[in-house]
Amino acid sequence: MRIGILTGGGDCPGLNAVIRATVRTVEIEHGGTVVGFKDAWRGVVTDDWEPLTSESCRGLLPRGGTILGTSRDQPYTMDGGVEAVRRAVDRHGLDAIVAIGGEGSMGVTKDLHRDGVPVVGVPKTIDNDIQLTEMTFGFQTAVQICSDAIDRLHTTAESHDRVLVVEVMGRHVGHIATWAGLAGGAAVTLVPEVPFDIDHVAELISARHRHGHWSSIVVVAEGAVAAEGTMDVPEVRMDAYGHQVLGGMGHRVAAEIERRTGIESRTTVLGHVQRGGSPVAFDRVLATRFGVAAVDAVADGALGDMVALQSGAITRVAVADAVGHLKTVEADMLRASSIFQVPYDRT
Ligand code: F6P
Repeated sequence: MRIGILTGGGDCPGLNAVIRATVRTVEIEHGGTVVGFKDAWRGVVTDDWEPLTSESCRGLLPRGGTILGTSRDQPYTMDGGVEAVRRAVDRHGLDAIVAIGGEGSMGVTKDLHRDGVPVVGVPKTIDNDIQLTEMTFGFQTAVQICSDAIDRLHTTAESHDRVLVVEVMGRHVGHIATWAGLAGGAAVTLVPEVPFDIDHVAELISARHRHGHWSSIVVVAEGAVAAEGTMDVPEVRMDAYGHQVLGGMGHRVAAEIERRTGIESRTTVLGHVQRGGSPVAFDRVLATRFGVAAVDAVADGALGDMVALQSGAITRVAVADAVGHLKTVEADMLRASSIFQVPYDRT
């Protein structure tokens, strides 16, 4: 067996653990070899690669980022890209390329499979927004980082009787915000799934502070949206890859809360801190299971499949079924979150 492997899109904790598990499984169970392509599909197209062995993967399990590098380049937007990918598969004698990536990368994986390139997908993202897998590695690490940060913000918020707004990542879904808000005891959590009314948010904060709470933590997902006509929001910018450039909602929400309530309000944007550093134990284990399962998929000829976590077990789904629509926050999570966003009179 000979496998190519790459990491695409934004990085996340656990990528190296997948690489390590894939290499180990190929070597131990198949006596095979692994080709590591650099900077996602760019390395396949330009033939930039390195051999990966168990020896070269030593120490990778707890290491954040990706030793292969990553990019958002993909063959369909590169001149002669798909042909170059086919040539790379032939040149290296690959049974398949294991593509570890988010929603965008899984879309490319689906298209390459349709076009006859042997591929297997491994879902990754701190956003946890990929359909048909109940969790992606990286997510739990991001949530832990947010929750730790919120614990720290509570004590300083209490000292100064402030509202502290925390903006977290997640793009167009609120998984990180919902989990972080629940774990961190937020007074208000704003997510894209539920457009918010800033007047209502301000009333909630005022009521809390009238009833003896001297500080409030407000978690704002970067993709949170104001209900139509309730708040002025600037026009959305797009990046070179056609994705909305998010960020800034936390500052806007803090300014509006302060204006309406008169309570001093500040913002912390956690940003890329959420994607950095060592994966938590859950993510190391999930990433390892995904790596092993990706090799199984290649061995079984399950090309065009994506490995997934369903009901706690590792499964495979057609990557085509997993892309095209995002996994939004589950109703029970939104309900649990909403129960803690009702003023509670403790007097
Ligand atoms: O998809 C992962 C993610 O971290 C999002 O939560 C965030 O919006 C985006 O990537 C940031 O991307 P970049 O690293 O390109 O700024």
